Amino acid sequence: MTARPLPALYGEDFAADPERVYAALRQAGPLARVEIAPGVEAVLATDYETALDVLRDTHTFSKDPRPWPDTVPADSPVRSVLAYRPAVTFADGETHARYRKVIGDSLALIGPHLLQRQVSDAAADLIGRFAGTGRADLVADYALQIPLRVFSQWFGLPYEEGERLARTHSTMFDLGENAHAAHEDLTGAIRDLVADRRARPRRDLTSYLLQHPAELDDAETVRQIAVAFGSGYELTANLIANTLQHMIADPRYDRSVYAGAMTAHEAINEVLWRNPPQATSTGYYVRYDTTFHGVGLRAGQLVLVSYAAANTSSRPGGATTDPWGASESAHLAWGAGPHSCPARQPALLIAITAIEELTSRLCDMEQTVPTEELRRRPGPFFRALAALPVTFTPWAPKAPAPPEESAGGAPAGRRGAAVGR
Ligand code: HEM
Repeated sequence: MTARPLPALYGEDFAADPERVYAALRQAGPLARVEIAPGVEAVLATDYETALDVLRDTHTFSKDPRPWPDTVPADSPVRSVLAYRPAVTFADGETHARYRKVIGDSLALIGPHLLQRQVSDAAADLIGRFAGTGRADLVADYALQIPLRVFSQWFGLPYEEGERLARTHSTMFDLGENAHAAHEDLTGAIRDLVADRRARPRRDLTSYLLQHPAELDDAETVRQIAVAFGSGYELTANLIANTLQHMIADPRYDRSVYAGAMTAHEAINEVLWRNPPQATSTGYYVRYDTTFHGVGLRAGQLVLVSYAAANTSSRPGGATTDPWGASESAHLAWGAGPHSCPARQPALLIAITAIEELTSRLCDMEQTVPTEELRRRPGPFFRALAALPVTFTPWAPKAPAPPEESAGGAPAGRRGAAVGR
């Protein structure tokens, strides 16, 4: 008898309608076996309480896959996400606390006023480039560009290099056949940046990371930057794009910024519940044979949390009604437990500012493709639009800033400190 194939968390069908797969998985219980790439099996938590327990229970679950045999094929696209690296995402206990402190202390140097201005400047420049045409792809022309400009400034990367890294990172997370090469390329470019700042420190996050009293070596610094730049850039772009799509398609947001009906912040909150930019967690590994929420797990088994499925599984607290009215912070879009996102404040500030800048200037945007036909990027980890084509009444900004004078267009360092209060 041939075994039934496991539900797949990859491919066009899953990307088009993940909720259908989550609903079927919930029938199998709070934890269910899935395939996350051809030949790669995992156990997926789809129930809210179970998900929270996986994320918080450091006694049962480890983030470090090394004690167990590596079962992910060498050429599998998910290696770029799951293969061990000496980075915050793969560390437990004291090692994790050390990396996390360096990242947290460095992010704390980012002044909210400067950040808001960087985003507003970048937004004005980008909008000025397409406003007169009456059409844009809000993913390529806007959502991906905003965090790219901000992150290039933060880390002190020349803009063109940041753009190349961003493309590389997208290839990596699309989990295509080039994912592994893309990951190597990303790491190589950051290695060059770190070597340069070790020799010539500047006022940017890369230099601050190197100067932190925890004294990370160069290789450790490269890995923390790769995680922060990579996931932060991609997830912030996805949050902006998913929220803009939500606002454009939902009549409750009509002219909302002027009428004050529903704000960008409220729209973001709804997206964090329904369409979290990171749909599935990185790896958690069972430390010993155990039974967890009634399900038998083997030592070394790969467990993933579906943030997306957990958010829609039930209202936190038990009731099985829809969760949209639930409190702002109870969703799992930022993760939970010791590995939850350390950057939710700057990420929210970037997203809110970017969305308000756009919707306050172009208030009659319409999608040119119906929502159900919008293409999503494949893979289990991200919930990301491939494109968001819109039209609007062409608009000529009164005094467009020349690109070379805008914050985003200038190479890092030309306008002084990239971070600071
Ligand atoms: C400024 C932008 C961002 C930066 C620098 C950033 C950075 C990071 C870092 C360094 C981690 C690893 C934490 C650890 O393992 O202890 C992390 C985790 C995480 N971040 Fe962010 N992030 C950003 C934006 C976002 C956004 C917009 C979202 C989605 C709403 C998000 C969701 C998450 C989630 C779900 C995790 C847990 C990842 C996992 O499952 O392993 N982040 N983030």
